[in-house]
Amino acid sequence: MTVRPDSIRGVTITGTGMYVPERVLTNRDLERIVDTSDEWIRERTGIEERRIAAPEQASSDLAVIAAERALESAGLTAADIDQIIVATTTPDRILPSCACTIQQKLGAKNAAAYDVFAACTGFIYGLGLGRGLVATGTADTVLLIGVETLSRITNYKDRNTCVLFGDGAGAVVLQPCPPGEGLLSIHMKSDGDLGEVLEVPAGGSRTAMTPDLLAAAGHTIHMKGKELFKIAVRAMDESLRQALEQAELRPEDLDLLIPHQANLRIIEAVRERLALPLEKTLINIQRYGNTSSASIPISLDEAVRSGRVKKGDRVGFVAFGGGVTWGASIIRWTAEAPLVATAAGTARREAEA
Ligand code: ACO
Repeated sequence: MTVRPDSIRGVTITGTGMYVPERVLTNRDLERIVDTSDEWIRERTGIEERRIAAPEQASSDLAVIAAERALESAGLTAADIDQIIVATTTPDRILPSCACTIQQKLGAKNAAAYDVFAACTGFIYGLGLGRGLVATGTADTVLLIGVETLSRITNYKDRNTCVLFGDGAGAVVLQPCPPGEGLLSIHMKSDGDLGEVLEVPAGGSRTAMTPDLLAAAGHTIHMKGKELFKIAVRAMDESLRQALEQAELRPEDLDLLIPHQANLRIIEAVRERLALPLEKTLINIQRYGNTSSASIPISLDEAVRSGRVKKGDRVGFVAFGGGVTWGASIIRWTAEAPLVATAAGTARREAEA
């Protein structure tokens, strides 16, 4: 189908929501499980604690709460959703998709629903997809969710990985807006040559799960952290510059950068390369660890509800993840401040007061 330029609509985020499970796993708790220390984890990653889903909670359970909050803040109901895009590496099951389970739980009777697998970059990829759907009029309302229960694919005997990951969900609603407002640019890239630096080796069609592979933790995340670190910094820097260029902006034009929360040192390195001041960079990795595709929408919801993102602000998103994949996006914020603060946002403001 050829789309005439005059049929392209602007696309914006009209609602946000997040949810993290109640159980907190602190660095001290991890000291009792593996040979690590609170000091090492803080120094090398910036993480102090992360959330872990209850045994009965799957990704869809976290996602539905975040989604309901996002719909509420957009003044919509589930019946208004045309498409549900779920960015996740940890769906409830391989079949049906996590998105279809969420569609059923929300009662989103009018929605198409499907998952996007792009690891920590999943939210940016979902934005790219959702933007295209709304811009071309294929959909009027897209619910985009980033959700992970990474604790289910983490090996708590491997200190190289188990200190990093946490569970959580974030959601946004995408809707049309006047051209030139809302999402200003999106940059997405991948490099499968580097796939082995971050992988779950068994359980797919290449290597079916066996009792031996299960015992060897083949269903969990294996990571070459040092290699990833360098690639992540370079890729996030490149992507953010590309997205800024597309939007005809300079780094100093950003009011807030919301980077994927993988490691505080990665965020610091990207921030320094772009000469962005600390107060213009959102950092919450200390409370949630790396929640992969959920980290940007969780951070965005907290920023919006705490008043850190206001109408007219230019906000940058940037992420890097397994695949490897990376991407960035710039939005000019169009929504008014939401009336309802999330429990987490309220708790944070109380703690800061
Ligand atoms: N506690 C104590 N010591 C540890 C721990 C731990 N939890 N983990 C590793 N170490 C040790 C190592 O064994 C090593 O010891 P050695 O020198 O005796 O061999 C030493 O600490 C240094 O290890 P490094 O790997 O060099 O540590 P580094 O400073 O690189 O930090 C880390 C490791 C935190 C993993 C970092 O490399 C990183 O964050 N990498 C990027 C992760 C990332 O971005 N992932 C992508 C997104 S995730 C996704 O897509 C799902």
